[in-house]
Amino acid sequence: MNNLIDNAAKELVKDYLDHLTSHDEAQISPERKAELIAKIKRLLKEKDAVLVAHYYTHDDIQALAEATGGCVSDSLEMARFSNQHPAKTVVVAGVKFMGETAKILNPEKRVLMPTLEATCSLDLGCPVDEFTAFCDAHPDYTVVVYANTSAAVKARADWVVTSSIAVDVIEHLAEQGKKIIWAPDKHLGRYVQKETGAEMLLWDGSCIVHEEFKARGILDLKKVYPDAAVLVHPESPESVVDIADAVGSTSQLIKASQTLPNQQFIVATDRGIFYKMQQASPHKEFMEAPTAGKGATCRSCAHCPWMAMNALENLALALETDSPEVLVDAELIPKALIPLQRMLDFAKSKR
Ligand code: 13P
Ligand code: SF4
Repeated sequence: MNNLIDNAAKELVKDYLDHLTSHDEAQISPERKAELIAKIKRLLKEKDAVLVAHYYTHDDIQALAEATGGCVSDSLEMARFSNQHPAKTVVVAGVKFMGETAKILNPEKRVLMPTLEATCSLDLGCPVDEFTAFCDAHPDYTVVVYANTSAAVKARADWVVTSSIAVDVIEHLAEQGKKIIWAPDKHLGRYVQKETGAEMLLWDGSCIVHEEFKARGILDLKKVYPDAAVLVHPESPESVVDIADAVGSTSQLIKASQTLPNQQFIVATDRGIFYKMQQASPHKEFMEAPTAGKGATCRSCAHCPWMAMNALENLALALETDSPEVLVDAELIPKALIPLQRMLDFAKSKR
């Protein structure tokens, strides 16, 4: 059965990417870098602010979050951390949905981001009107959305999940005999469906970074490094997930890189994760999983173009000017909070 929900949003993502200007990591001098790091540290203290960074951001930003008592983590832990930390201002280095999640969970706090332009192809590929119409047409389904969505889409959902907890939540719902609408990532949806056997309708969205990984290329690389383990984020295509030694969220992949006995790893996720993997296992070797192949023109080869928009310069400026601030429609906040809080409560009960 083809259970993929047909939608027009894919064109929207393509169009957005065609107009995206490339943000290469800023080439700054060591002196300027040291100056910016010192400035960010000072401003974080002065403004009672905490830095929450995703594993896909630049090494310098991850190091700063660690050095200043902030957090570097997957999207579930980012949400949990911002919810529990007493700081008045939360600075989110990641993509827009992460900033919005922090704001929904902490409406009384100021939430800043280095840039609000940093979005996500999954979020873009799930416009609220189209999604709402689909949900309305299937009132007997439980609506589960990935955290990589807008506040408006979350407000239409019964549950929000991240990749860390998706299998557990869907298993829990399937045990209650629930039929599920899943959006937006079709690859993660298919993986969860396979793991749980749940009845699911999948929105036809995808991550432009993970979709590029190729099983053929990984198998070729395995011929050169036969002892390497393959680590795969479940936003990757099925053929890539099928050849993985470990499949999981970013934090689960970092854990696998520590616990598996292998000394070499082929990693199918954003290369920003190497910072933490290498820190945890300095003597192990990590390689990017091949993407579109030799000579391909790839806008997102193992590196999310939106995560790459977070830099020391715009982070310092955001703290200095208290802008750009993440704002979420006041009417949406209580509605989006319900499925988000459900996820956090569920995660707590699993600990
Ligand atoms: P994690 O929740 O695994 O960190 O994933 C977030 C994400 O955007 C992956 O592409
Ligand atoms: Fe979105 Fe993919 Fe970037 Fe993650 S890596 S933020 S899913 S576009």
